Formats: sequence, structure tokens, C-alpha cells
Amino acid sequence: MTASTVPTSLPQTAPGLLVRGLTTTFDTSRGVAIAAADVDFDVAPGEVVGLVGESGSGKSVTLRSIMRLIREPGKVTGRVEWGGRDLVAMPAEELRRVRGGEIAMIFQEPMTALNPVLPIGAQIEENLVAHTDLNRRQRRERALELMNIVGIPAPERRLDEYPHQFSGGMRQRAMIAIALACSPKLLLADEPTTALDVTIQDQILKLLLDLRDRMAMSVVLVTHDLGVVAATCDRMAVMYAGRIVETGTVADVFACPNHPYTRGLLGSVPRSGQSRTMLQSIDGTPPNLTDLPDGCAFHPRCSFATEICLKQRPPLDLVGTDGRRAACHHHERVAAAEPIL
Ligand SMILES: Nc1ncnc2c1ncn2[C@@H]1O[C@H](COP(=O)(O)OP(=O)(O)OP(=O)(O)O)[C@@H](O)[C@H]1O
Ligand SMILES: [Mg+2]
Repeated sequence: MTASTVPTSLPQTAPGLLVRGLTTTFDTSRGVAIAAADVDFDVAPGEVVGLVGESGSGKSVTLRSIMRLIREPGKVTGRVEWGGRDLVAMPAEELRRVRGGEIAMIFQEPMTALNPVLPIGAQIEENLVAHTDLNRRQRRERALELMNIVGIPAPERRLDEYPHQFSGGMRQRAMIAIALACSPKLLLADEPTTALDVTIQDQILKLLLDLRDRMAMSVVLVTHDLGVVAATCDRMAVMYAGRIVETGTVADVFACPNHPYTRGLLGSVPRSGQSRTMLQSIDGTPPNLTDLPDGCAFHPRCSFATEICLKQRPPLDLVGTDGRRAACHHHERVAAAEPIL
């Protein structure tokens, strides 16, 4: 659909993606693991939202839940509204039309996402057949164009090669090409550039921002790299033990974390610029998702914790303007604390 054919009645401010109460649980031999709990966030058209948090905090589970890719014994509840429709409740047929077309995902593990018995070119083609009217010649041209964009050398030859013939970095690029094939309106990108060198990483992030500018593509970007968050994201959400504990504009959150976990993650890193700056690790062990502490799940690792934190889970409350939220009983104290040097 070109810009001129977009119905004028569509409210321009309508949020692209609206996630409400998204909760994902897995039955395990050790009990029920709550991998994502009551996750709420919005992504406006053309907005890039960074999702950060330590390993196991639920970032990938959240993206997979949005795409309805959680398999048994996993269970997903809550609402994921996209263009006014609920993806969680959407019939499978309709979901197939949305997935890969309007919404695409770049997976953290390229090998699990690529089909091992289909050449890369055919996998790009599959998407184009399902979601566009391009003819065979146009599809091949588009596939070549995508391979060039993501920096795969000798694309004519490589189109006919299988995933096992690609190196890890090349597989990741191929997956990005597949995800971008149909110019999605929403891209869920799970560590899309982690395995790539800095030059290609910059190129791909630039491409995502370009698509955002030209097509108002919305992006949820999972990354461990704070330099990437600072350089590419408009807003960010911080996850701990399956919950969003802080969210706001990147500028606000970097300037003054309101949650002790965010404060720890950001540590004393430079607060801007393009340099690679990985999340800091935090003292203490990540919680056991089948046996979370009462009250605030972060309290055993928190230097700000008091009695109330052991008993009452803090809600993700508004703590400022611009949708700034934090789930901490002591957010004012945290915001006022001396920066970590
Ligand atoms: N199929 C499953 N069965 C049981 N537990 C699962 C399953 N999938 C994910 N989990 C659990 O859910 C939790 C969150 O996992 P998730 O992959 O979302 O973490 P993450 O934040 O993406 O971490 P990373 O930064 O390492 O990618 C983990 O504790 C994981 O073990
Ligand atoms: Mg992950």
C-alpha cells in the first residue's frame, strides 16, 4: 500500500503495537516458570524501542509471544494489539498473513529460524510469494537486492546455497534479508547484529533506521549493547525476571535511572556515542523463575531495599512525563542517588 492509498480515516496517532498484560509460563519439572509477566508496552509507527535486561530476563520470550511462536508446554495470555486486532486471539489463517508480511522477526539464533533444506534464495522467495504480488523475475531481483543490502558477497551464487554453507555471520545476514523481504511494518529484532563485525552492524542499523524513516516501520530491538540503544532507539524498556521494571525515552533513562536494576545495568558507562558499551553485570544471581522472591523480585540484589520491598511487588507506575515508568517503591531515592562512578 502506498502512502496515498492509506485511508485518511486512520488516526495518525494510533499505536502500531500495543502489548497488555502479556504473560508467558512454562510447565517445567521444577514447577511453573513465569518467563514473561504482565508485560505492557506500546510501539508507535516509526518508533524504535530497545528491550534490555540480563540473560534470562525474558526478552526473547516476549518477542516470541508477540509473534505467537511459543509452543506447548508454554502458555501465553494477555493482549497483543496490532492495527486494532489481537494477535493472541487471531485465527491461524489470519496470523499467517500477518506474520512474515506486516510483522517480521529476526531471531537470536539464525540456525533455528532458517530452513536447513531450502536454499537461502528460496526462503526469501517464499516470503515474497506469500505476501507480495511480485512476479518470478521481480522476486529474484528483490532477493538479490536484499542480499546486497545486508552485505552478502556474490549474491547470485549464494542465493542457491543452503544455510549450512553460510558462516554464522552470513546466516544472520540472510535472516535479516528474509525478515526485511516484504518491508514489514513492525520488526521484532532479537540481537540482530550481535554476531556481526562493527562495520556491518552499523550498516544494518542504518538500514533499519532508513526503513523506519521511509516506511514508518516500527522496531522492537533487543540488544546488550548500550551504544546501540543510545544511537538507534527512541525509547527503551528494561526487563528483570520477566517484568518490565523501567521504561521511558532513552535520553531520560540514561540521564537518570529510576530503578536500581537499570542503575546497575547502565553502571558508569559513557552515556552517549556510537561506541560499543555492553550492559554491566550486576552482583548477585539472577532469580529462579519457578520460585521468585516475594515482593520485588530484585530485592535480594538491591542496595535500596527496605521492608516493603520484601512484601509488596511495586507496580510499574508513572514516575514522570513522556510515559516514564518505574516499578520501584524507592524510585525517588534511586533517581536522587549519586551516579555510579
Ligand atoms: N521452552 C521453554 N521451556 C522452559 N523455559 C523456557 C523456555 N523458553 C524459555 N524459557 C525460560 O524463560 C526465561 C527467559 O528466557 P529468554 O530466552 O526470554 O531470555 P532472554 O532475556 O532472551 O536472555 P538472553 O539475553 O540470554 O537471550 C529463561 O529462564 C528460559 O530458561
Ligand atoms: Mg534472548
